[in-house]
Amino acid sequence: MDITKSKGFLYAGGILLGIGAIKKYQLSRSGSTNLEAKRVKTKSYQYKLPNLPYQFSALQPVVSKETMELHHNKHEQAYVDGMNSTFAALDRVRGKGYDSKARQGMRYSLGQKAAFSVSGAILHELFWKNIKGKGTKPSASLLSQIKTDFGSLDMFMQEFFDTTKPIQGSGWGVLVYSPEICKLIVLPVQNHEDNWIPNAKVLMVIDVWEHAYYLDYQNRRGDYLKKIMNDINWDVVSSRYEQAIRVKPEINFK
Ligand SMILES: [Fe+2]
Repeated sequence: MDITKSKGFLYAGGILLGIGAIKKYQLSRSGSTNLEAKRVKTKSYQYKLPNLPYQFSALQPVVSKETMELHHNKHEQAYVDGMNSTFAALDRVRGKGYDSKARQGMRYSLGQKAAFSVSGAILHELFWKNIKGKGTKPSASLLSQIKTDFGSLDMFMQEFFDTTKPIQGSGWGVLVYSPEICKLIVLPVQNHEDNWIPNAKVLMVIDVWEHAYYLDYQNRRGDYLKKIMNDINWDVVSSRYEQAIRVKPEINFK
């Protein structure tokens, strides 16, 4: 006889299921015991700071060796540390369940910290690669797009300068290409994470946080910006552009 098909077994099973449901309800209402048992195992994150792709002195005299050492080893390191601590904290908060107002608030601030630290770390890596390129020029296709959108390379440089220099406090001048509208756009990004366009591809970034120039230029952000813009690595920017125009847009506005 198959015991699982007997009336007694089904009755007992129903009672057990009923007790289980009541217990689950009680635990979800009253305590952390059940939630603790379900705790997500906290992962340890070990994102590491990539090496600078050239010597710390490579940008002299535009940016001093001392500035570059501090910028890479201390400031960018802080964003990488921030990624590790933010995701570890998110795991801890997730593992403790969804029953406390305080944890709901922490999720909001950890979401902000994730945006800040991940954007900061990525922007610095893009930045190191798209500078130190004295003597390079935009590719023919990028130059053609620049002329279409800005009028000329000089007019683009002026627009980039005018958009970036007045950024209040800390930020980045960012050139993006939007596959959705087929245009180059200069964005004055605040901190690391504000003033973005979704789906836009980043072609070139210039750091205008004070830590990027203050030792060498004090409050003269414009002087720093003019000089560093003469050191753009157009080979890298052109290569990013070639990749960006191959991206199939998700939205068609035509
Ligand atoms: Fe920076």
